Formats: sequence, structure tokens, C-alpha cells
Amino acid sequence: MMANNVISKNEPLLEVRHLSKNYGATLALKDISLTVKRGVVCGLIGENGSGKSTLSSIVAGINTASSGEMYIEGELWNPTSALMAQKNGVSIIVQEAGTIPNITVAENIFLGHEKMFSKGSFVSRSKMFAEAQKLLEFLGVEGIRAEAMIDSLDMQARKIVEIAKALYWKPKIFIVDETTTSLSQTGRMLLYRLMKELTENGGTVLFISHDLEEVMEQCDVLVVLRDGDMVGTLEKSDFNADTIKKMMVGREIKGDYYRADMDGYSNEIVLKADCITTLSDLLCFDIELHKGEILGIGGISDCGMHTLGRALFGIEKILDGQVRLANGTIISSSKIAIANKMGYISKNRDRESLSMTATIRENIASTGYKLNRVFGPIISFKKEKKYVDNQINDLSIKCASQYYTVNTLSGGNKQKVAFGKWIAADADILIMDCPTRGVDIGVKAAMYKLIYEMKKAGKSIVLISEELPELIGMSDRIVIMKKGEISYEIKRNEVFDEHKLIMHML
Ligand SMILES: Nc1ncnc2c1ncn2[C@@H]1O[C@H](COP(=O)(O)OP(=O)(O)OP(=O)(O)O)[C@@H](O)[C@H]1O
Ligand SMILES: [Mg+2]
Repeated sequence: MMANNVISKNEPLLEVRHLSKNYGATLALKDISLTVKRGVVCGLIGENGSGKSTLSSIVAGINTASSGEMYIEGELWNPTSALMAQKNGVSIIVQEAGTIPNITVAENIFLGHEKMFSKGSFVSRSKMFAEAQKLLEFLGVEGIRAEAMIDSLDMQARKIVEIAKALYWKPKIFIVDETTTSLSQTGRMLLYRLMKELTENGGTVLFISHDLEEVMEQCDVLVVLRDGDMVGTLEKSDFNADTIKKMMVGREIKGDYYRADMDGYSNEIVLKADCITTLSDLLCFDIELHKGEILGIGGISDCGMHTLGRALFGIEKILDGQVRLANGTIISSSKIAIANKMGYISKNRDRESLSMTATIRENIASTGYKLNRVFGPIISFKKEKKYVDNQINDLSIKCASQYYTVNTLSGGNKQKVAFGKWIAADADILIMDCPTRGVDIGVKAAMYKLIYEMKKAGKSIVLISEELPELIGMSDRIVIMKKGEISYEIKRNEVFDEHKLIMHML
């Protein structure tokens, strides 16, 4: 079954020999050797913090190894920067946001390569815009203008700009790090097509995702990492979900991690959006959330569900109508929401959920000042430590210590901090926008358990998700949105039908 670290198809393209990486005492990669051949999509999989991003960032010149060598087409590969790697055939879509704010789409695409459009010291922006537009059209990207400011685009469109930027250089090796969680179905289809074209032309894709179904479908071979070790490789003919899970976590993971019950919820309404209208997306939109309810909201990415989440928490400007609590309080700002025991996990964790340069402890503790106070403004150090420790344990947040800054964590572990921060706060109403984004299967199960425990404790949850299995598995009621309106609504005891749900999204 194991292919002895060698991945078949044509000749080797990338070779990694005894590669190790340490961050202080943390061993992120331990003596990794592998060969990836031409024309394949090679999946790089493993739990959060297993070393996937570290390995790919070293190949892409963003990061340097502590020891070991790499070869491309038999020649020593020693990139000194991402720009240099890009020019020499290795491009990466990084896991975090990879675009730079306050500049245009075209400037993002050609960042660091502006000289291409210059005469003397003068850069021709019109030439740059034209070249960028040509690229977008060539790749089949619709609805993105080269001269648009990057900030005017949504998360998916910004990721597509990154994809275009990476492909401009016609890479031999194209690395896609956890990109698809930012993309809707159409965005995914575009990416899969581009990956296929690349491999058909003899290139190689390194593909990272926690979506096992997607990985099994898109990849030809898999490399499994666990805690910085390479545990093995698998050929497509040997793909099997249970085998892969076991290789990733090192123990058997059985069956389903969703709830099995049909327990309903109370009739008591705790939060109500009353004919709310936002700048874009929502027009006189109504929704009610009940005590003890997990209300699932689904739809395709731009159906308005993310805007709804923001509006319910008071961070989206509401032009007309209002969001109200049972006691009549109007939620017109996040400050009011928080003061009324509401919480919100943003889909955009880097910008809205976490403070990257603050410590794990500071991030989690930030929701607990009231709970951890002893008297007056004095915070009990002991209580606060326990508040943070509980989350680190429950969610297995992989960190050297809680005093490390969040930007030293792997992507999935950042997401755990964003989640834990609000679970700890013991909010009565929690709005979660894609709460399990980029989280590995083991921790997903832990998150679902915590969400369910909240429901059982009489809390109310709005679960906005692009993953149907998650909505079906966890919700008491599912509302499907389409173009800013409710297109379908169904309760758990009426039995969720996946096909029907999809039909109402499109
Ligand atoms: N700048 C850094 N400083 C200290 N430790 C780091 C730093 N960057 C990464 N690490 C550590 O290296 C290990 C591997 O992280 P990496 O980001 O490669 O994981 P990953 O497999 O990509 O996980 P995920 O699925 O969550 O994205 C983790 O333990 C992480 O905390
Ligand atoms: Mg990663």
C-alpha cells in the first residue's frame, strides 16, 4: 500500500531530502524526504500543526529550512524569496490572506514585478492594468476588474486574484494551501480546472485541504504528515477515508461526529431581525432565533448569509429595520451585542476575530474580563489562566505556551483560538460564521460537542456554514438563503434532504 515515499507517474519534478525545520524548541518538520513527480496533484494532509504550511512555504521560498536540501528537476533548489521562487517556477497561494490592502487588483498581481511595466523610473499603470485584465480573462475569471481596489472585493474574489497572480508565472510547481475554504462552488470549479490544466502540461500541484472528500477526488497521490513526521504516502488506488484518517491521527476514528437526537427547542424568541435592510445583500429580511436552538443558515457564498451574521451582531450597517433581543434591546453595535451576552465568530478570522500580534492568552481572555474579575477592575490571574487553559485543552490548541503570539500558530490552531474565545465567554447567543473552517477532523468533533452542549444549556446559536453535512448534522432548523432572501426553511424533525437543500440554493 505505501509507495515508499516515491510518487509515480512521469519523471521526478520536486525532491525533498532530509528537510527539517525548528522554531525554537518546536520541531515543525522532522527529516522529511519525498519525491513528487510531474503531472500529479499531490495532496499534503495531516492534522492542524502537522507541518503542511511549513513544508510548502519552504518550497515556495517564503521560509527557510533548518537543514536538508531540495531539488527541482535534479538541480539544487534554494529559493531566497517568494519573488525569486515565483520567477523560477514555484508559486504558492498562502493559507492566510495573501493580498495587500489599499492597492488595486493589478498592483497585487504584479507586486514586486513593477519593473516589467516601467520605462526609466516611470511605471505605466495602464499597461499593468491591461496585462492584468488579459490574465484574468485568459484564466476565465469573471467579474473582477484589474483596476478595482482589492478591498472592494469579497474574500473569494481576493483569493481568485491570488490564484491569477500565482499562475501568471506559469509555475511548474503550484502550491495551494487551504484555499478552497475561502471559495464557493464556482470558485472551486475554477481552481480545479486550472490545476488540471497545469498538471496536463507537466506541472505539479501541492494541494492542502482538510476536506477529505475533496482531497480524495482532486489528488492523485497523498503525503500524510503527523507532528512534523512524514507517516507515509498513498496512491489514488489505495485512497480510503478510514485509512487516511487513521494515518493522519494515528488512531482509529469511527463514524459520525454529529448529533443523533431530534430534540427540539423552546418557542421563546431570543433574537429577532425585523425587516432589516443592509447596504448590499439584505432587503427587509426577517428571521427569529429561539432559546436552545441551533439555527443553521446555508446558501452559496454570496447569498447574503455572511452579511446576515454581521448584521445580527451589530457590525454591519443596518439602513432600515432592526435586530432586537427579547427584552427590547436593539443591537446597533457589537459593543451592545457583547454587553448583552452575544458572541460572534467571524469567517474572516485574521481581520475580525483575532489580534495576530497579541498572545493566545490575551486573545482568549479578552472575552472574559467580566467573568474573571474578583472586585472592581481587578482580574484574578488564577481564574483567567483557567479560563484560557480550558480552551487550550478542550480544543487541543497546539502551542508551545499560551504566551506565544497568535501569528506563530498554524491556520487551524488560529481558528481554534477564535472559536474558543467565544465558547469560553459563555454567551447566551452565539453567531458562528464558518466556525470549523480549516480545522482538522478530530477538533471538528470537539467543536460540534461544545456547540451541542451550549444548546443543551439553553443557549442559542446561529450556525452559518458553507458545508451542508455540518448544517444537516447539527441544526435544529435550516434556513437556506438565495440572493438575500429565504428560499427554504425546514426543521430537523421534518428530515433534512440534501438534494432539496441544494436545489433551493441555486
Ligand atoms: N513563526 C512560528 N513560530 C513558532 N512556531 C511556528 C511558527 N510557524 C509555525 N509554527 C509551528 O509549526 C508547527 C507546524 O505548523 P504549520 O503551520 O506548518 O501546520 P499546518 O499543518 O499547516 O496546520 P493547519 O492545518 O492548521 O494549517 C505548528 O506547531 C506551529 O505552531
Ligand atoms: Mg497550514
